[in-house]
Amino acid sequence: MAKSKIRYECTACGAEYPKWNGRCLSCGAWNSIEEQLPAAIPANSGAARQSMSLSSQIRELAEIGTNDDIRYDTGVGELNRVLGGGLVKGSVVLLGGEPGIGKSTLLLQICQFMGESHSILYVSGEESARQIKLRAQRLHVDSESLYLLTVTDVEAICDTIAESEPDVVIVDSIQTLHLSSLNSGAGSVPQVRECTNLLLHTAKAKEIPVFLVGHVTKEGSIAGPKVMEHIVDAVLIFEGDRYQSCRILRAVKNRFGSTNEIGVFEMSDRGLQEVENPSAMLLEGRPLGVSGTCVCCMMEGSRPILAEIQALVSKSTLSSPRRTATGFDYNRVYILLAVLEKRLGLYFGTLDVYLNIVGGFRLDEPAGDLAVALSLYSALMDKPIGETVMAFGEVGLGGELRAVSNAAQRIQEAERLGFTVCILPKQTLRTLQTDRYTIRLEGASNLKEAFRILEKTAGKESSLQ
Ligand code: TYD
Ligand code: MG
Repeated sequence: MAKSKIRYECTACGAEYPKWNGRCLSCGAWNSIEEQLPAAIPANSGAARQSMSLSSQIRELAEIGTNDDIRYDTGVGELNRVLGGGLVKGSVVLLGGEPGIGKSTLLLQICQFMGESHSILYVSGEESARQIKLRAQRLHVDSESLYLLTVTDVEAICDTIAESEPDVVIVDSIQTLHLSSLNSGAGSVPQVRECTNLLLHTAKAKEIPVFLVGHVTKEGSIAGPKVMEHIVDAVLIFEGDRYQSCRILRAVKNRFGSTNEIGVFEMSDRGLQEVENPSAMLLEGRPLGVSGTCVCCMMEGSRPILAEIQALVSKSTLSSPRRTATGFDYNRVYILLAVLEKRLGLYFGTLDVYLNIVGGFRLDEPAGDLAVALSLYSALMDKPIGETVMAFGEVGLGGELRAVSNAAQRIQEAERLGFTVCILPKQTLRTLQTDRYTIRLEGASNLKEAFRILEKTAGKESSLQ
């Protein structure tokens, strides 16, 4: 393709420049000028002819068929769930995550099942065909309809896709692709945006679903920031600590399904294994008879998951004591500590407080407040909470417990895993049919009552008035 003149455009106000500047002279924004693809490159020359035929393209919504085989089964239940029931034909799905989290592994693994009935083109700009073969052998992927292509020129890739028409395309990774007509290097914002656009057009025109692997930068955004998110149909993020085995697949955008669902995996020596029972996995190896831990049931989409909350309180040597929270909102810890201090007279002022949600999960919903407060109380008093006690409920600034949703599902999950006592807000308890459960339901209207219940279940005298 002939090289056209590069344009530079301010992303804030749209002013154009013949060369790059550090500051936009029009709006004054700093570092907002980016290289843009010359407008002439897309084949728009037939625009007039196209617009004449547009009226014939108008279709009634009712007459558009949605046949059942619009989605492909990926063979991985957890991935299907996050995608909203399978991979939609013609969709572009971005799979993001830190390097080494397991993106390539997951995509290679789905090739085994999908390869039985579909042809798959695996485009890799990161690994050689030999390296992919070695990984495939390790993962026992030996599908005959899996084809490898190790090129990075996006136009060549799109032409190949259009010509060979595979059923599914996997591109690993978008940051390695490049468009020769752009001057900037592979992985830069303009390159990533234009490469994604070209792949999107090919995917839509041919109704071929495309998985794009995207690396997440240290700051947590997919490079380049946000430019791909609005182009693609779905954005799935692989989370988890690469040094721990638990991996969580989360949809942050999905045009064809809910963004609440999560998929849970465990990295093993045979690749990623689906975890159908995350609660049992998270509670495995829980320290018993140790103070500062409490189990909570959080909702991840339609799924109740039991997670252990750990708190550690120790004497501080610093003038302003340390507070750290992993998997829980840092500011919320301050609020809960203030409530415990003001409403119950529990002083954490000279103590360091560490809080951790075990297993790499994030506890974002307010329903986790009560369990966090109980674990802080248990850590402060150095009194262990009964090992079969579970708690959920929102804590208000007055120390009161407020109702939360999905109570029945949370209780059932706790029952299934052998818990015998559930502490919950009284308001929520009133809405439940208590005779349906074998677990003992203990309603509390405020934190003080919740602590009393704890003391009672531990078989000790209450130390609170
Ligand atoms: P990978 O899929 O290459 O990560 P990404 O594509 O997201 O950068 O995963 C690499 C990590 O997974 C690596 O640290 C090794 C580990 N792994 C296993 O533990 N077991 C396996 O069977 C495989 C294939 C990888
Ligand atoms: Mg990879």
